[in-house]
Amino acid sequence: MNFQQLVTARHSAVNFIKDFVMTEEDFKNIFDLTKTAPSAFNLQYTNYLVIMDEGKKERVRELNFNQYKIHTASAVVIVMGDREGANRENAEKIYGPMKMLKMMDEVDYDTTMKTIENFNAELQKNPANFDVEIMRNAGLHAMLFMLSAKNFGFDTCPMHVHNIESLRKEFNIPANLEPVMMIAIGKSVDKERPRGYRKPVGEFVQFNSY
Ligand SMILES: Cc1cc2nc3c(=O)[nH]c(=O)nc-3n(C[C@H](O)[C@H](O)[C@H](O)COP(=O)(O)O)c2cc1C
Repeated sequence: MNFQQLVTARHSAVNFIKDFVMTEEDFKNIFDLTKTAPSAFNLQYTNYLVIMDEGKKERVRELNFNQYKIHTASAVVIVMGDREGANRENAEKIYGPMKMLKMMDEVDYDTTMKTIENFNAELQKNPANFDVEIMRNAGLHAMLFMLSAKNFGFDTCPMHVHNIESLRKEFNIPANLEPVMMIAIGKSVDKERPRGYRKPVGEFVQFNSY
């Protein structure tokens, strides 16, 4: 499949083939492509919790309006943003090895660290700022996850995530990770389906000015 075919082949699955098993290897392949997603300062603060266990998946379903497709999906994936993702420790994890490998010099490293520090301070001033930042980054990441999944022959459906505090307790999600959305994944029962109505480009794109 070329890129155009891949993008048009992706649909939100209405229902999945029950009992189709996905392996950790399947997920590894998908995430190896997903990790190329862009992120602010390359800080990569999108995290995933993959729930394949049948009983646990049912619990997610109960917490999320009992949507049937969670029952038939091979897994449900919680997409989360890390509220500590722009802190010094995380920034050092990303940029330290680059400095060591001489992909950046000392001056470049220090300037980048300072810029990230200012960026993080701005975000930490107001949790709402961080919410927007997390959503921005996680949204791009999740889209690439769905395209990567399709590339390997799997279907997905993005969903809102509800009852976050119960979910957090049940799956021991640390306080710094904020669930943003979930993605049901597996093999769709539908082979082909018409695309839902899309606005013509002229309706949602303006050039140069409104
Ligand atoms: C944030 C978000 C939440 C969604 N929630 C649900 C959902 O709870 N259940 C569902 O069946 N589809 C859900 N969808 C999928 C949309 O209905 C779907 O993307 C849209 O109808 C367009 O269809 P397509 O993805 O097949 O092109 C969601 C999509 C997004 C982006």
